[in-house]
Amino acid sequence: MRTEDPRPIALKDYSEPDFWIDEVHLDVDLAPETAQVRSTLAVRPNASRPGKDSLRLDGEGLELLEVHLNGEKLGPNRYQEDESGLTIMEVPAGAFTLTTVSRCNPAANTALTGLYLAGGIFCTQCEAEGFRRITYMLDRPDVMAVYRTRITAEKALAPVLLANGNCVESGVLEDGRHFAEWHDPYPKPSYLFALVAGDLGCVRDAFTTASGREVDLRIYVEPGNEDRCAYAMDALKRAMAWDEKVFGREYDLDIFMIVAVSAFNMGAMENKGLNIFNDKYILARPDTATDLDFANIEAIVAHEYFHNWTGNRITCRDWFQLCLKEGLTVFRDQEFTADMRSRAVKRIADVRMLRTHQFPEDGGPLAHPVRPDAYIEINNFYTATVYEKGAELVRMIYTLLGAEKFRKGMDLYFTRHDGRAATVEDFLEALSDGSGVDLSQFKRWYHQAGTPEVMASGKWDGAQQEYVLQLSQVCPPTPGQPHKEPLHIPIEIGLLGEDGADLPLSPIGGTAAASGAHVISLTKREQTFRFKNVTAKPVPSLLRGFTAPVKLSSNLGEREWAFLMAHDSDPFNRWEAAQKYASMILTGNIAALSNGKIPRAGTGFAGIVRKILNDPGLEPEFVAQMIVLPAEQTLAQAIGQDVDVEAIHSAREAFRASLAEQLYAEFERAYNENETPGTYSPDAEAAGKRSLRNTCLGYMAATGRADAIALAKNQFDTADNMTDSMAALGVLAHTDCPEREEALRAFHDRWKDDHLVMDKWFALQATSPLPGTLSRVRELMAHPAFSLRNPNKVRALIGSFATANQLRFHESGGEGYRFVAEQVLALDKINPQVAARLLGAFKSWRQFEPVRQAHMRETLERIVSQAELSRDVYEIATKTLG
Ligand code: ARG
Ligand code: ZN
Repeated sequence: MRTEDPRPIALKDYSEPDFWIDEVHLDVDLAPETAQVRSTLAVRPNASRPGKDSLRLDGEGLELLEVHLNGEKLGPNRYQEDESGLTIMEVPAGAFTLTTVSRCNPAANTALTGLYLAGGIFCTQCEAEGFRRITYMLDRPDVMAVYRTRITAEKALAPVLLANGNCVESGVLEDGRHFAEWHDPYPKPSYLFALVAGDLGCVRDAFTTASGREVDLRIYVEPGNEDRCAYAMDALKRAMAWDEKVFGREYDLDIFMIVAVSAFNMGAMENKGLNIFNDKYILARPDTATDLDFANIEAIVAHEYFHNWTGNRITCRDWFQLCLKEGLTVFRDQEFTADMRSRAVKRIADVRMLRTHQFPEDGGPLAHPVRPDAYIEINNFYTATVYEKGAELVRMIYTLLGAEKFRKGMDLYFTRHDGRAATVEDFLEALSDGSGVDLSQFKRWYHQAGTPEVMASGKWDGAQQEYVLQLSQVCPPTPGQPHKEPLHIPIEIGLLGEDGADLPLSPIGGTAAASGAHVISLTKREQTFRFKNVTAKPVPSLLRGFTAPVKLSSNLGEREWAFLMAHDSDPFNRWEAAQKYASMILTGNIAALSNGKIPRAGTGFAGIVRKILNDPGLEPEFVAQMIVLPAEQTLAQAIGQDVDVEAIHSAREAFRASLAEQLYAEFERAYNENETPGTYSPDAEAAGKRSLRNTCLGYMAATGRADAIALAKNQFDTADNMTDSMAALGVLAHTDCPEREEALRAFHDRWKDDHLVMDKWFALQATSPLPGTLSRVRELMAHPAFSLRNPNKVRALIGSFATANQLRFHESGGEGYRFVAEQVLALDKINPQVAARLLGAFKSWRQFEPVRQAHMRETLERIVSQAELSRDVYEIATKTLG
């Protein structure tokens, strides 16, 4: 809990540790309420910081029993304990071993960091600073050691005993106890340590690496869930093969294990050789998991596996470098998914995600650079900025270098830094040296926060037959950064001729592009680019593929957006044009609604949607993306200030209904044509059909027609997979119709014993736009399947209400805010990380109209005034208030 003023840690204060620790031997004796840990550390002074005679180790919430130095027991006058660690005085000048014996209480650990017992399984989460809750250690990522871990437990309680590396010994002891000893030969920081013990079922497979080594693959789950592991295992093998092929990276141990647990603070964790997952991202069966679940499993299994090279073999020097492993690994998992599925659809999904989560963060009080320069609680920096914007920065480097030089740079990065703890500077230097491309201006992206705004103004000069494109950039101020330098922004562009086809591009003073794809570099505040031999007025397609995480504005109007929506050869920009066009109509309609004017029906937009629905050449999932209107949150962002959530909701729903009326027959036809009969397959093609079909169902239901509701009810009753079942239930649950309660009850009764499916049931009700939603959410907190102690439950019910139900969270009387704040405070006593995450729902509070702003401010002030707050919640609350 809060120590008076939590002090920020700053990057500029980094210094190497006074000592190195080369080996860690752990002897862990497990019982639910006491885990006794005997730890022996091989310590060596750091030659570059000589003359230190006391050793300071991190340790929190531990009961210290004994200390030995070089095998000799130390008296209490030789060491000092306090709430954050242990200091050993008068240590020898050379290398020495230090043994501590201590205890912790896994059953009482509700914060789920360190060693905890949940659902009968002992498990650990050490990133970022959880290891110090298991034993005393230099718990920082630049201290890398070889670990040997011996686990002892009652066999009946924990028949399976796992830790990092290879199992070197195991056996039975007296009194029904047994042990296993694991050895990980690769030096690693403490945050990659893991231990799991419990009654677990196992699914096994094998992978042969490119150099011919056999790797034993295992997924451990709660007994009974073995039939839900096949997809995760398949994804793992594909990820292993992909990393060999695309990055030349092979797996390095003889065994790779994944454990799925139901109580986990995040998605998953890349512990060396022993990844631990939130079971939501492993377990899938067609009847229990949606297509989106399958896609997430594939991506996250790959993400954690890819960390073995980008994160584990090369780790971070300090936590300010978090993006070095996370941004890079997200980029790698995005590329994997793009190769496994549809590249265009993946890009659209990633940009959607960036815009809904990262842009508001970057434009609000919690804005921070991809590489932050200070933090109070590092757990608050596992953000969309570090992860998603971090990935965009790597993607820009990829765009600037091209595939081949990027690979050369990455190869050099791996050779130079393998086995080391590196920095962002090391990464940029390797990519620059390996490719010969100068990245010095580009580096600003890493320390400058905020989303840059790029203004484009294009003109066709008929006399010169030239197209002149003027670009400028500004980056708005962010907390602590009033002044910004211009960035190096890669912008892919194209010019479309009258027929909608791409014109050949001949830049003046530049190099001609090979394929028609052309990337220009905007490096100054203002810059002009010219293209010759343009014989007729073109329509420009700017920022194709979203080559930079910026907000682009231009002198294009509705006619041009409609043209690009109909014709752009770049699928991302075609989607972007549809979003821009829809957004123009919608923001107009939102204003009309407040002024008592008549909203537009959008017949022009509907006309293009009709063509798209009728185009057999387009993949169904892309069509689905093209026809989904911008989300309410996206519209709120586009409006930016004085946001009226009710007007947004009504205008959007009305436009959906209007489109559905205009295109009912087309939606119905697409619904019927995209059936996926036969055995369910989670592949992208089948999933795309279901996605389009269910999007059409949603539109049809938006008309409120009885036949559409009946269709949804019928789909719900007959669905043989969770995707179709959930889509239909979603329609019913979000519509005020008699079928609503009946369907929710039927779903509940069928799945009440399945914790993952129950999360879907909670989330669906929490995101309902109907007026009774908040009281329903309160009621559901008393449901036996709900628990504040389980992060997935909290995210499903309270998190979805706060972050995915703009209309009801922002109820004008402020009751939504007060409810969420109540839960944040209750959770803060249980699990500060999850509490702080939830509080993030308030980050955009200044964009709403004054009444709601006042309610949110008051709520935040009440949180800050609490006597006992965790550092996690304290940091988010104070920074949000600004
Ligand atoms: N490294 C994990 C990943 O793959 C996430 C760890 C998050 N840790 C935390 N303390 N929030 O993304
Ligand atoms: Zn990661």
